[in-house]
Amino acid sequence: MNKPIVTLAIASAMALPAAAQQNVEVLHWWTSGGEAAALNVLKGNLEKQGVKWNDMPVAGGGGEAAMTAVRARVTAGNPPTAVQMLGFDIQDWAKQGVLADMNDLAAKENWDKTVPAALQKFSKFGGNWIAAPVNIHSTNWIWANKKVLAKAGVTAEPKTFDEFIAAAEKVQKAGFVAIAHGGQPWQEATIFDGVALSTGGVDYYRKAFIELDAKALASPTTLKVFDRMSQIRKLVDKDFSGRDWNVASGMVISGKAGFQIMGDWAKGEFVTAKKVPGKDLLCYRFPGTQGVVSFNTDQFAMFKQKDADKTGAQMKLASAIMEPGFQSAFNVVKGSAPARSDVPDTAFDDCGKKAIKDVAEASKNNTLVGSMAHGHAVPASIKNAFYDVITRHFNGQIDSKKAVTELVSASKT
Ligand code: BGC
Repeated sequence: MNKPIVTLAIASAMALPAAAQQNVEVLHWWTSGGEAAALNVLKGNLEKQGVKWNDMPVAGGGGEAAMTAVRARVTAGNPPTAVQMLGFDIQDWAKQGVLADMNDLAAKENWDKTVPAALQKFSKFGGNWIAAPVNIHSTNWIWANKKVLAKAGVTAEPKTFDEFIAAAEKVQKAGFVAIAHGGQPWQEATIFDGVALSTGGVDYYRKAFIELDAKALASPTTLKVFDRMSQIRKLVDKDFSGRDWNVASGMVISGKAGFQIMGDWAKGEFVTAKKVPGKDLLCYRFPGTQGVVSFNTDQFAMFKQKDADKTGAQMKLASAIMEPGFQSAFNVVKGSAPARSDVPDTAFDDCGKKAIKDVAEASKNNTLVGSMAHGHAVPASIKNAFYDVITRHFNGQIDSKKAVTELVSASKT
């Protein structure tokens, strides 16, 4: 009697389509060894919750190429579900009303209390949460190969710009590349962040590069910043043009070069190469910027979706990003500090512990400033115009005086 019913039940179950697995398409520019290793931590955390990760990598440090890809996708009416973004880019998309509102999740998980105010400025728009911050990076760092420095007779950490130049010259004279550098506009701008802060201090940096005060921009301090960029130019190797930042990190890791001036994503490369701070590598703040942090924060913004299932998966991704255990595991690998102030530093190496401490202190002392080079000081149009001037000057196409005039014009872009 029962048999036909059972058969019927099985038959109808077989006819039903299998429940579609939730998935998110994630567009990002984390393609170097260290970046990919960190990304895998996030992927793993999300997949534990049953959400499939569709990877959409767009190579190119600093994310310019990724942002071009996002614009093309949105224009074609096919935005990715989740996108890695920096500061002003997040705000620009939010202004267009295309980003998903994460308020319910943020309220449930208390993001207001745990995410530092400096980050919330970029994660919220009109009081609504529109991005989930995954880290706090900073640009005013120097990475050094301890053995190379010892061979060159550099035994103490340079504390001023002039001491740094003297140390780099020693490294060069000892037969190494003094400063491993990749000649790409965003990398030159990254160096510029540190040089500007070291030369003019935090008040000058804020006035010139955040408030775009014409007087500060046109001041003798800016002229000196460019002159110092020329000093650095003399300490890079002849093959620097177009080199990727992680290749430059590799030169320090392998002992070919002494120093790299780069944000702390460089540490991700050292970690992946199993190098240990204090033993193999040294990390210090760009000389003359001790106590100051020029930060950028990678955040994930979600483009609005019609499909409720997709929105559900987006919120699972956001929740996975904000989980304290994940923030520790991810940032240990990525080289950054957590984007939450309640994550212990126990799992971090010495450079990571310093990063966390520096951010907390800078935040307390009002010396935490948005990085111009990484989209946290001015909108992308002005940032790109600044890049252009800084790069042409670095490549000797314009002198320092002309660079100052052009920087002032670029600020009005
Ligand atoms: C991002 C980092 C990334 C770096 C190099 C920065 O703008 O914040 O996460 O590792 O670019 O690609």
